[in-house]
Amino acid sequence: MSEAPPLEGQKAVRLRLAPASGGRRVRAVVVRRLRAIASFVRWRPRFGAFALGSVLESPLLLTNPGHVEIGRGVHIRAGARIEALDTDAGPARIVIGDGTSIHLHFHCGAALRVEIGKNVLIAGGVYVTDHDHAFDDPSQPVIANEAVLAAPTILEDECWLGEGAKVLKGVRIGRGAIVAAGAIVTRDVPAYTIVAGIPARPIQRWDARASAWVPVPNGDPRR
Ligand SMILES: CC(C)(COP(=O)(O)OP(=O)(O)OC[C@H]1O[C@@H](n2cnc3c(N)ncnc32)[C@H](O)[C@@H]1OP(=O)(O)O)[C@@H](O)C(=O)NCCC(=O)NCCS
Repeated sequence: MSEAPPLEGQKAVRLRLAPASGGRRVRAVVVRRLRAIASFVRWRPRFGAFALGSVLESPLLLTNPGHVEIGRGVHIRAGARIEALDTDAGPARIVIGDGTSIHLHFHCGAALRVEIGKNVLIAGGVYVTDHDHAFDDPSQPVIANEAVLAAPTILEDECWLGEGAKVLKGVRIGRGAIVAAGAIVTRDVPAYTIVAGIPARPIQRWDARASAWVPVPNGDPRR
């Protein structure tokens, strides 16, 4: 049998998503508005803030929604777990900015503060946290330890978190940054930088002069 030729990587082509046509578009807008009204009636009284026009799908798990603020035009799909914990520092706060879209099975836990900016795109299975269980006393099983170690976590406007990305405590993700699918982010990400891997390292940054994403040698965005 002759040997198979080596496989070559496929080059990505740029496509435009087709807008829904006529009747389908109108139906989608009407359904979206009805769902937003139903969400507003159901969730506005329970949340710290819940702007009209946002949709929060069930099932979901909520802890202290009174400390969670949801901006305008936010969409959080089913399976979310959103927990603002009470600690001796007071109630934690979670803020989700206008226009942010969050796909299935989002988990967000705050012991101090998690801020998610405006027009952020979050894919499915993403985890954003600002704390760990304390593990400084190995004689106590973690499950029996009520302490946490916390530092605020911030996602600035217009960033994009790929499928399954995890963002750990104390991280700031800069405006317009991109977190690759499956990445675990343990350090700050500069604006307009793409990070990937575990732990996440910069792989590309936006070069405004060249008007292009350029590779980042050795994971250092300053080079
Ligand atoms: C981050 C991303 C956008 C980068 O795309 P890209 O610019 O086409 O990147 P490339 O394929 O050119 O990869 C550049 C390098 O990063 C690596 N890389 C890309 N994505 C990676 C990932 N998720 N994890 C680890 N490494 C990754 C590539 O292997 C390549 O490394 P190499 O130069 O050593 O070969 C894309 O890889 C990605 O993760 N997209 C997320 C998809 C998703 O979750 N969609 C959900 C819809 S909301």
